[in-house]
Amino acid sequence: MGYLQRLREICTRHGILLIFDEVITGFGRMGAAFGAQRFGVTPDMICFAKAVTNGIVPMGGVIVSDAIYNTFMTGPENAIEFCHGYTYSGHPLAAAVGNVVLDVMEREDLFAQVRALEPVLEESIHTLSDLPVVADIRNVGLTAAIDLKPAEGKPGARGLAIFEAGLQQGQLLRCTADTISFGPPFISTAQELRDMVATVRNLISAVA
Ligand SMILES: Cc1ncc(COP(=O)(O)O)c(C=O)c1O
Repeated sequence: MGYLQRLREICTRHGILLIFDEVITGFGRMGAAFGAQRFGVTPDMICFAKAVTNGIVPMGGVIVSDAIYNTFMTGPENAIEFCHGYTYSGHPLAAAVGNVVLDVMEREDLFAQVRALEPVLEESIHTLSDLPVVADIRNVGLTAAIDLKPAEGKPGARGLAIFEAGLQQGQLLRCTADTISFGPPFISTAQELRDMVATVRNLISAVA
């Protein structure tokens, strides 16, 4: 049984709500609409943002199960439903952009594009495992992460040094402590993914 399946089972058994943060993984990056579909596990809530508007207009949301929705929306006859609005709830600009982005994803079959690129990213990124400072590499869909071995007594310093070296060369990496993570565009070409990995190899080799 997979990790998420097991989590689902434990949460169901103990009446705990299972929430998936799909802010990065949602809307295609897993080669499916959400990680939930990719892994065949249904959470009680999904948080989403970013790709729903192609990241160009701020928009986020929460998808909830019928049971949660009904708990919010039902109550005494004359009571208003549980108040949960925000100033920019359902913002027309963001909603319009979200609709267009979803149309484009469907029209250009971008989930399939992600599935086609996944093996390219996988094969390419794992070539970095020969670098002595690389501790672990993982990938799913169009996401990947490289864990670097922390510098002796200075956790995070190696990741920061690589981040800064990247900036010097006009490359913006996403480093969280000693982990470098990747979420390339769905429209990347195979060659661009390989070039990205080659660039990261050079940065890690130069700094570590
Ligand atoms: C996985 C994940 N969850 C949540 C957030 C925060 O999202 P927001 O800024 O929409 O609250 C981020 C931001 O990068 C994220 O990467």
